[in-house]
Amino acid sequence: MKDALRLRPGTPDDFPAIVDLLDTVFHEELVPEHREASAAVFEAERSLVVEDAGAVVAHTNIHSRDFTVPGAIVPAAHVTGVGVLPTHRRQGLMTRMMHRQLRDVAEAGREPIAVLWASETKIYPRFGYGAASARLSFSIMNREVRLPAPPAEPAGQLRMGDPHDLLPAISKVYEQLRPGQVGWSSRDERWWRTVLTDPKDDRDGATKRWAVVHEGSGGPTGYAMWRVKDGWNDYGSNAEVQVREVAAADPETYLALWRFLLGIDLSRSVIMRLASVDEPLQYLVDEPRRLGPALLDGLWVRIVDLPGALAARRYAAPVDVVLDVTDPLLEQNTGRWRLTGGPDGATCERTTDPADLACTVTELGAAYLGATSLAALAAAGRVRQLTGNDPAVAFGWHRMPSPAEVF
Ligand SMILES: CC(C)(COP(=O)(O)OP(=O)(O)OC[C@H]1O[C@@H](n2cnc3c(N)ncnc32)[C@H](O)[C@@H]1OP(=O)(O)O)[C@@H](O)C(=O)NCCC(=O)NCCS
Repeated sequence: MKDALRLRPGTPDDFPAIVDLLDTVFHEELVPEHREASAAVFEAERSLVVEDAGAVVAHTNIHSRDFTVPGAIVPAAHVTGVGVLPTHRRQGLMTRMMHRQLRDVAEAGREPIAVLWASETKIYPRFGYGAASARLSFSIMNREVRLPAPPAEPAGQLRMGDPHDLLPAISKVYEQLRPGQVGWSSRDERWWRTVLTDPKDDRDGATKRWAVVHEGSGGPTGYAMWRVKDGWNDYGSNAEVQVREVAAADPETYLALWRFLLGIDLSRSVIMRLASVDEPLQYLVDEPRRLGPALLDGLWVRIVDLPGALAARRYAAPVDVVLDVTDPLLEQNTGRWRLTGGPDGATCERTTDPADLACTVTELGAAYLGATSLAALAAAGRVRQLTGNDPAVAFGWHRMPSPAEVF
């Protein structure tokens, strides 16, 4: 790095310059409502900036949130806001920041993993992040798919309104479901405010966001959020329903919510960008092809504290395996580790025993949420299975991750 450039932790005073930088690199202009919400969740002491002659030219930040992994909730460094001014690119500034950030997270010792969404999939594997959860993006021809009829005696009823008014019910459902939803991040009051921020300038001609809550005799059992983009053509209305989140505690609620969303009058299509790869909707409709599913990458996971991370999650089957892991950035992860455990918990300790499987920390991150198969990575030559003791089944999970938001 040139002498004039200084990498340092951010301060609250840096916030306006950081927003300007991120506006520039992401080709946007944060509207005041989003700026306020971002300020409320900004953790200055966890941010890093690079200064050039007093100006902020590069930045990254971490949000401290809990995160659901297979069978457990762990603290995770939610990495975000990675940007370098066009004038300062390809000089290694991001690399410097990512290295420092990972070392800081490891030294703090609180979070066994870091997670992020990538603007481009090439960027993060070099820092040990693995593509840990694919997702489906649906573009549904809603007039061409049919759902089962509702039960003769519905288990509950739907209440529609502004998400802010329905937040007590929505957040209750979210908290109830969170422990079982791999890929969900904790949402305190500030995060709910961020998630629900809905400035008019940001709607691209669509309506405000709406919510519907499903309520049974014992309280709320699910919710959905969406907006509608109006449109007319020679055939009449051509409106598009843009679904944001669908959460349901039971199959009756799930069916009721999707019957509602697919049946909104005057609409001809429904899109949902964050569906899980095993989204149950695929197994409910009579013509799944008309859901228009596209497979995209989702969350990226970086194992920061290898024994801590591997012992924190649960495994789908009993496992007793020696992993030979290479981590060029966090050397303390490099070496042979015996992982012993199963559905009820696990331990992970250093060993000198011969290894069953060899990989880098990137592949372990990819497999961590149970969605990317170690066996598939081995077939791609990215993992070396050295003995017949293959942990791929144990590393899987009974449901695919279902990230609720892009942070
Ligand atoms: C992505 C970004 C932060 C990279 O910053 P940078 O300081 O130029 O990155 P570095 O100089 O440290 O590059 C490190 C390596 O990654 C590669 N790389 C960086 N950005 C890349 C990209 N967008 N696509 C592919 N490769 C990229 C570089 O070519 C370099 O590889 P090399 O060492 O083999 O030459 C910067 O281009 C940017 O701000 N882009 C727009 C915003 C964005 O997409 N941010 C990421 C949000 S998740």
